[in-house]
Amino acid sequence: MRISVFGCGYLGAVHAACMTRLGHDVVGVDVVPDHVASLNRGEAPFFEPGLPELLAEGLATGRLTFTTDAADAADCDVHFVCVGTPQKAAENAADLRYVHAAISDMLPLLRPGDVVAGKSTVPVGTAEELASRLDEEAPGAELIWNPEFLREGFALKDTLHPDRFVYGARDTEQGTAAKQRLDEVYAAALAEGTPKIEADLATAQLVKVAANSFLATKISFINAMAELCEATGADVTLLADAIGHDARIGRRFLNAGLGFGGGCLPKDIRAFMARAGELGADQALSFLREVDSINMRRRVRMVDLAREQCGGSIVGRRIALLGAAFKPDSDDVRDSPALSVAAQMQLQGAKVVTTDPQAIDNARKKWPDLIFAPTVEETVRDAELVIVLTEWPEYVSLEPADLSPLVAARSVIDGRNCLDPVRWRSAGWTYRALGRP
Ligand code: UDX
Repeated sequence: MRISVFGCGYLGAVHAACMTRLGHDVVGVDVVPDHVASLNRGEAPFFEPGLPELLAEGLATGRLTFTTDAADAADCDVHFVCVGTPQKAAENAADLRYVHAAISDMLPLLRPGDVVAGKSTVPVGTAEELASRLDEEAPGAELIWNPEFLREGFALKDTLHPDRFVYGARDTEQGTAAKQRLDEVYAAALAEGTPKIEADLATAQLVKVAANSFLATKISFINAMAELCEATGADVTLLADAIGHDARIGRRFLNAGLGFGGGCLPKDIRAFMARAGELGADQALSFLREVDSINMRRRVRMVDLAREQCGGSIVGRRIALLGAAFKPDSDDVRDSPALSVAAQMQLQGAKVVTTDPQAIDNARKKWPDLIFAPTVEETVRDAELVIVLTEWPEYVSLEPADLSPLVAARSVIDGRNCLDPVRWRSAGWTYRALGRP
């Protein structure tokens, strides 16, 4: 099939490359010329394991191209909407201007029988509005909602071998035909037995935000337990292991620490609350306000713990921060808990130096006043306190004895509960962690 992907940011670039792997001819459309040029050179504008190789594979066959000209997508049968829906400035609601712009760009291209497949995360009700726009301005073309659940760092696997497909469509002949079209797009993945849930438009839009809200709630739940552990001398990692053995609860997403960040979970729960308010259902989601505030409290707690470790004040103290990305295997610093802690400590007078294996360039753009060092060794030199803020494998496997001669004081805080306390303590370090004695 010939497929277009409108919006070639994280979601769109990955989706376009993966669709070529599934055997389709793909044209990716984006409004940023530099972005398009780098994708056409096979360079991903962000770090995602395996993506450069997949882009190179698609570009070499000539079946994958990127363009700024929507007209190049004229003969495509299926058009995916993969543009961003960021949080509006000074508001919780999602900004839908890019979604509407993508639809406007597509409208002149649409022929009867064509399918527009929405993948962006949108407030429930948006798809119905877009479907009406197509009815009026491109009759015969049909909208289907097909949310995406990819995680950064696992984006290729999550797109090519997802846990499930969700199709939201209208209960009409055209809606049924659109679902069949999507079956053709995903034929290779469906043949592996991937479950498929067919739903109405509203449910399909809600699935995405409900899933992210559940994940955020799970993380904030264990972080609330970490607060209790701190108050009682209990150990949140043992608690998580013990409750996680109950298959109804499960151990995944129960890692207590600095909490969640990134381009999805924080903004999605806020946009969901804003939409619930508009629908008169704000009480139903009032718990998400608490989920958000538990999450934000972790960052404050980390600065407090650093202050305790430094004997009551961080002013003028040399603190080494390992990690800037919002999670490992990513160069993404959007709403990064690590960078938020770094900025707070600097504002409060600490001399912080930050490092990260992938995210320094992005971090520097966001916080130009912070000091960054390229290696762990340079970062920890003369530090009175070392803090792990992102659980990159290279930090988890650090040999404390190798760092001992470099630091001014052997003191470490494990902000992600990812280090082995026994190893650090037996090398003579003071080890502290969030939610552990
Ligand atoms: C998330 C969803 O997982 C994905 O399904 C959706 O499509 C987009 O949003 P992503 O933002 O890539 O994906 O990151 P994820 O792996 O979910 O982690 C989110 C944040 O939660 C990170 O900051 C991570 O450090 C934190 N986290 C995760 C925890 O603090 N504890 C955990 O146990 C798990």
